[in-house]
Amino acid sequence: MELLVVKDYEEMSKKAAAIIASQVIIKPNSVLGLATGDTPLGMYKELIKRYKENEVDFSKVKTFNLDEYYGLTKDNIQSYHFYMMNNFFKFINIDSNNVNIPNGTYNDIEENCLNYERKIKESGGIDVQVLGIGVNGHIGFNEPNVNFEAQTHLVNLDEKTIKSNARFFNSIDEVPKQAISMGIKTILQSRKIILLANGEAKAEAIYNTVKGKISPEVPSSILQLHQNVTIILDESAAKLL
Ligand code: F6R
Repeated sequence: MELLVVKDYEEMSKKAAAIIASQVIIKPNSVLGLATGDTPLGMYKELIKRYKENEVDFSKVKTFNLDEYYGLTKDNIQSYHFYMMNNFFKFINIDSNNVNIPNGTYNDIEENCLNYERKIKESGGIDVQVLGIGVNGHIGFNEPNVNFEAQTHLVNLDEKTIKSNARFFNSIDEVPKQAISMGIKTILQSRKIILLANGEAKAEAIYNTVKGKISPEVPSSILQLHQNVTIILDESAAKLL
């Protein structure tokens, strides 16, 4: 694991954007794995800026998002489809046919998940996967006591995740209890992984990720075994290392 500790959120976002931009410049038809949540917002802003300055062209890029809430339609403002469109895709020249986000409302869950895995394989696999991390060490929505062998599947969200994500909803009761998420196996098959974390609330999860025992109780701990992981942290998230 390569650890980069930077001053603050802005620097973390710029570093992450620089890694993605150089990947796309070197390989214009790169396959990117993307995350939602608060953490990558600054990275998306920086990538939009680089696009507007003609530094990076997304026209041949393919993307696969980590997860989507189960039961939310694409146009629901809480859905990750809506988030991606409004925080990133509508500002860049990505081809909408190249955007992939798990479908939160497809009836046949198994077929839905298998289709997602098939599409990732057909695209040649993910070149760079961006990850955030939950306070409980979840990556994607792979919650504690995870099955490391799982591919894209329906997951039950952990109480801590529901509480933490309630900040995006009017009330905690509105937070979906399930999601479709890439599994750990899918994530680990990415050629490169960058994990971003900022703020003190993530410090313990980061400590467990980097220094803890590899265990299904801390899903992110499995990243210790991946050959090409870069963790970009602000000083607060790196506090316990
Ligand atoms: C989002 C995702 C989650 C988040 C994590 C951290 O697609 O898969 O694992 O990365 O919950 O969320 P934030 O960034 O809001 O703290």
